[in-house]
Amino acid sequence: MGVFSSGGVGIDLGSANVTICLENEGVVLREPSYVLTLREDTDQILAVGRDARQMLGRTPRDVALISPVNDGAVGNIELATALIQRLAEKALGKRRALEKNRLVVSMSQGCTRVEQAALEEAVRTAGARRSAMVRSCVAAALGAGVPIEEPRGSLLVCIGGSTTDVTILSMNGIAAARTLRIGSLGMDEAIMRYIRREKGLIIGQRTAEDMKIDLGSAMRSPTLIRQKVSLRGRDAATGKPATVEITAADVHNALQPPLEALVENIRDAFENIPAELAEDILPQGLYLSGGGALLEGLSQRLGEMLGLRVSIDENPQDDTAIGLCMIASDDRLMQKLEQSGCLIEI
Ligand SMILES: Nc1ncnc2c1ncn2[C@@H]1O[C@H](COP(=O)(O)OP(=O)(O)OP(=O)(O)O)[C@@H](O)[C@H]1O
Ligand SMILES: [Mg+2]
Repeated sequence: MGVFSSGGVGIDLGSANVTICLENEGVVLREPSYVLTLREDTDQILAVGRDARQMLGRTPRDVALISPVNDGAVGNIELATALIQRLAEKALGKRRALEKNRLVVSMSQGCTRVEQAALEEAVRTAGARRSAMVRSCVAAALGAGVPIEEPRGSLLVCIGGSTTDVTILSMNGIAAARTLRIGSLGMDEAIMRYIRREKGLIIGQRTAEDMKIDLGSAMRSPTLIRQKVSLRGRDAATGKPATVEITAADVHNALQPPLEALVENIRDAFENIPAELAEDILPQGLYLSGGGALLEGLSQRLGEMLGLRVSIDENPQDDTAIGLCMIASDDRLMQKLEQSGCLIEI
């Protein structure tokens, strides 16, 4: 592709990660949603994404590590703009300039008018040739291959960093939706609390997340439960460096309270949908998406608890960015989503 080529760009601006998908190329970038700035002057951006996150828990006093997107909403417009611009530049490289492309960015389900205006401002300032915002669950559904055009309802559960969206889609629109303030980050916190309480060890969020990804499981599988690792942290009583052995069973136990809350809330949301829509959903089951859906055994546990078939693709964390890019690359789809109220042109 030449320097002047243009195309669709989908940016999933999540509270944990920014994921970017380019037309004809697929997902080319995923980096943590962090910006590192000077504490006294947050206009001075020192790093974004992965480079910024490396400073988590080790920032010197004069710098601040900020997540401009919280609970799926833009909390800081300038820094969200910087995150979009810098990561888009990195993803596009020298091949294209953002101002020559069509950009579609995700907008969370529960976002208020004020939060929507903040996101709009950040997307406009990013400076693409044409841009729009789309409800993230609609984009995730498209990316996951959910038949959203059909007149019957389809159920999508999207587990992100800080929230879980339970959505029923039909005729390119949202028939019912509920946002739960429970996500995969809450599981990291549960692991941190458990290890402090049961093992007397203080660990950071990054370590807890690694434990969740490497050893965590929603089901108690005999092979996984036997795995163990030595964990370094600080002794909760003395504050001195300490090492403790942690098993997969510990991580499994730590995950039970947030998992139960998640499953209960999804069940509650499912039980409260109108009877006609519930009838549509039974034969096809539910679609699972988002990075949190990657937790080992989660789809099985959800399926068993809800009595539904669960479909999940190989990379559920990419679904939203892929769907956004599909929209950015297709004028007719853009129009249809605008008509159903799921897309806002900027
Ligand atoms: N293999 C894995 N097992 C368990 N959890 C995982 C795995 N891989 C990623 N995650 C979790 O997925 C979460 C991020 O998911 P995702 O990128 O979909 O969130 P997001 O879109 O940034 O957040 P939100 O949609 O809430 O704004 C992180 O908390 C991460 O720990
Ligand atoms: Mg998300």
